[in-house]
Amino acid sequence: MQALANKRIILGLTGGIACYKSAEFLRRAQDQGATFDVVMTAGAQQFITPMTFQALSGRPVHTDLWDNRSADNMAHIHLSRDADAILIAPASTNFIARLAQGLADDLLSTLCVARGDCPLIIAPAMNKEMWAHPATQRNIAQLKADGVHVIGPGSGDQACGEIGDGRMLEPMQILAELIAFFQPKSLAGKRVLITAGPTAEPIDPIRTITNRSSGKMGYAIAEAAYQAGAEVHLVSGPVRLEAPYGTKRQWVQSAREMHATVMNLAPNMDVFISVAAVADWYVTNASQHKIKKNAEQNAPMLEFAPNPDILADVAALPQAQRPFCVGFAAETEKLIEHAQAKRLRKGVPLLVGNLAQQAMDADDTQLMIFDESGHQQWPAQSKQKAAQQLVQHIARYL
Ligand code: CTP
Repeated sequence: MQALANKRIILGLTGGIACYKSAEFLRRAQDQGATFDVVMTAGAQQFITPMTFQALSGRPVHTDLWDNRSADNMAHIHLSRDADAILIAPASTNFIARLAQGLADDLLSTLCVARGDCPLIIAPAMNKEMWAHPATQRNIAQLKADGVHVIGPGSGDQACGEIGDGRMLEPMQILAELIAFFQPKSLAGKRVLITAGPTAEPIDPIRTITNRSSGKMGYAIAEAAYQAGAEVHLVSGPVRLEAPYGTKRQWVQSAREMHATVMNLAPNMDVFISVAAVADWYVTNASQHKIKKNAEQNAPMLEFAPNPDILADVAALPQAQRPFCVGFAAETEKLIEHAQAKRLRKGVPLLVGNLAQQAMDADDTQLMIFDESGHQQWPAQSKQKAAQQLVQHIARYL
C-alpha cells in the first residue's frame, strides 16, 4: 500500500545543513507514491545542488522567481495550484521570519504567500539558541496562528557540536508526519491504549513460554491511531519492531506485568485495543537459576496457574473509569462462532476476528468485525490499511 498515492507535494528547501536529510526524505516519500516539485532558495543551494533534487525527483528544480521556462513567467502562482501541500524542509530561522512577515522576495517565499488554500507544512532546522530566541518563538506562534502546520523540531546533537532543541526531524519522521497530515483526525484529543505482541512467561532466567505473535497488527494500529490524532500508549511484549513515530511504548515481558501496566493506565484512557497474544498460563514453580539436565535426563515438571484476563478486567472497570474496549480473536477454526462467544464472554462492545493461520507473521490480514448488531467481513488488505480502517471504524462508536 502506498500511503501517499496520487499526492503532489512541493518540497521547499532553505539554507541549512539539514538539506542532506531532505534528499533521503524525498526518496522514501516517493516510495509511498508521492510526486515532488522541488523549489530551492539561494541559501539551500549553498548546501546541496539543484542537480541532486532534479535527479531524485525526475523533474526540473525551481530556483528563480524570474525563470522564463514558464510561458507566462508565473511559476510562483502555477506551482501550488494543484499541489496537495507545500512542505518546507529544512525551514531556516531566516525563512521562518520571512514567512511570518509575509515577505515575497524570492520564488519560495512568493509561492507561500500566493498559495491560496494549499496547506503549508514546515520542518524547522537550526541551532538551539536560534530556536530558543524570542523572535523565532514569536514567529512560530504567528505561523501556527496563521494555520501553518509545524513539525518538530527534534532534539539532540547539532551540526555545530551543541546539543538541544532545533534539529530537523529525521527523514522517516518527516514522512510519518506527512502521511499523518493527510489522515482524517477522527481520534483528535483521544487517549488510546494498545497492547501488542506476545507475552513471555519465565521457566527459568533463560527460558520462556510464549505465543507466536510478530506484533505487526498491534503496531500498525498504534501508528494509525497516532495518524488519526490520538495520544497513543503502546504496551508491548517482546517483538523486533520499532515503536511507531509519535507513540509512547512501554516494554513488558509476562502477562502479569502487562496486566499491572494496563490496569494502571486504563482508567485515564478513552479507548483500549487489546491486540496482544497473551499467554493463558504462567509457571508457578519457575526456577531462579538455569535448570540443568540431570543424569536421568528427566524433563522438569512445570506447574501452571492461569494468568489474569487483561481485556476482561478492563471491560469490568466501573463505567467512569472504563475506556471503550476492543478485543481481538485469532482463531484457527469456526471463527464466527468463537469470536461471537468471546465478545460476550469478555464483555466488550467490539471484537475483531481473523484466522491465525492467515494473519500470523503476515503483512496482510482479513478482518471480521463483531458488535452487538452482528458481524461484517472486510477485504484482505495490508495490516496498515486494515489498521486505518479499524481506527476510523472505532471512532464512530465514541
Ligand atoms: N486477552 C487478554 N488477557 C488474557 C487473554 C486474552 O487481554 N489473559 C485478550 C487478547 O488480547 C484478545 C482477547 O483477549 O484481545 C482474546 O484473546 P484470545 O487469546 O483469543 O482469547 P482467550 O481468552 O485466551 O481464549 P481462548 O484461548 O480460549 O481462545
